Amino acid sequence: MKKKYLIVTYGCQMNVHESEKIAGILRSRGYEECKDEKEADIIVFNTCCIRENAENHAYGNIGALKKLKRGNPGLLIAVGGCMTQQEGAAERLRKKFPFVDIVFGTHNLDSLGELLDRKAGSKKAVVDIWGKEGEIREDDYSFRTSYPNAWVNIMYGCNNFCSYCIVPYVRGRERSRAPEKISEEVDRLIDGGYKEITLLGQNVNSYGNDREGECSFPQLLRRLCRREDKFRLRFMTSNPKDFGEELVRAIAECPQICHLVHLPVQAGSDRILKLMNRKYTAAEYLRKVELLRKYVPDCQLTTDIMVGFPTETEEDFRATLSLVREAGFSTAFTFVYSRRSGTAAAKMEGQIPESVQKERIMRLVELVNEQTREKSACYRGRTIEILCEDYDEKKGLYLGRDEYGRMGYFRSEKNRIGEFVRLKIGETSGVSLMGEPAD
Ligand code: 5AD
Ligand code: SF4
Repeated sequence: MKKKYLIVTYGCQMNVHESEKIAGILRSRGYEECKDEKEADIIVFNTCCIRENAENHAYGNIGALKKLKRGNPGLLIAVGGCMTQQEGAAERLRKKFPFVDIVFGTHNLDSLGELLDRKAGSKKAVVDIWGKEGEIREDDYSFRTSYPNAWVNIMYGCNNFCSYCIVPYVRGRERSRAPEKISEEVDRLIDGGYKEITLLGQNVNSYGNDREGECSFPQLLRRLCRREDKFRLRFMTSNPKDFGEELVRAIAECPQICHLVHLPVQAGSDRILKLMNRKYTAAEYLRKVELLRKYVPDCQLTTDIMVGFPTETEEDFRATLSLVREAGFSTAFTFVYSRRSGTAAAKMEGQIPESVQKERIMRLVELVNEQTREKSACYRGRTIEILCEDYDEKKGLYLGRDEYGRMGYFRSEKNRIGEFVRLKIGETSGVSLMGEPAD
């Protein structure tokens, strides 16, 4: 009987894709996936530390395995990802959970196979965290689970050091993949039937800066869009400070690039943006939005916003609300500032009480939801094209997104996953749309 693996993923799409790589490594070693931890021979936690609650969640779930491990000493437990990469975190983890067998970091995920070999020959735990980025390994061994969408890393790491953010400390400096490697991977995926590619990087706009201007991000996009096939191209995340006309023109001119841009603004007050080290003002951000709408009038915009950053006043917060209204985001990911030790903001005076943060996030979410509902209502009676990506068993409905990221649901006797489907929209509620196939 084959041995079984279970991977528990926290955090962003970058992590979800890295879990696909972990799955690929385990499958190449003869493991198959299972859904129940009681059946598993190995459980891998792919962690995130960007906010404290993601970290607490992982700690809670790892701790809960103590009993299982006691009853099944052959079970391997591995913990990797951003959380373990923080200074001193591996030791803290080992102390708290001595039953963990393997600890690895963000830079040596590719060598999980070798760590498994080391563990097989030893009773002791294997702890291997690299202090520095290694070479980019180019073999694509991912076991993809998101058909018809596929994630493709174009770069790793971040050089920006926004004052609240732990990412540059746990993912190292920016490293861009060679353009030909990226286009080979994208070609292979499209030839293999994938219909939507999402390019991943912490700041895709600085793609290529470490490769002596060989190929900029807009040039990479144009290169990937040379194919005639029908497919969608998305990317995340764009830092507003480097978002410019060349990129906007590529979005306007390449039909495969979706007219949805995720452009995290974080705050609407210039004083807070400066403290965050974001390197743009609210007015500059809005000018970029204007530029985007000039070239791509139907483009939708999503964003990340944080409330309760140190010293944020009611007036600062109101500037955020007013920017949300002005930019007309179709939706936003909203966060309460979380103090991350090791970052510049963690040492700042004027940390905001939790009760104030909670009150602000509720007001922000209310405004964002109102805007999202208004945008949804515009869909009533319209026909949209979605890429069918899944079947929701509970609802008995197929679902997929339009190019603007809006989720549409429909009934079908036939499996339509992987097809572009035209939907006539009837009811709308919140973010989801209900439709009838129009063909
Ligand atoms: N606290 C709260 N939110 C954070 N983010 C990053 N760091 C923190 C933090 N310390 C949010 C930012 C970023 C998103 C991925 O996570 O909004 O864009
Ligand atoms: Fe963090 Fe800023 Fe880098 Fe994004 S750009 S990963 S928020 S440091």
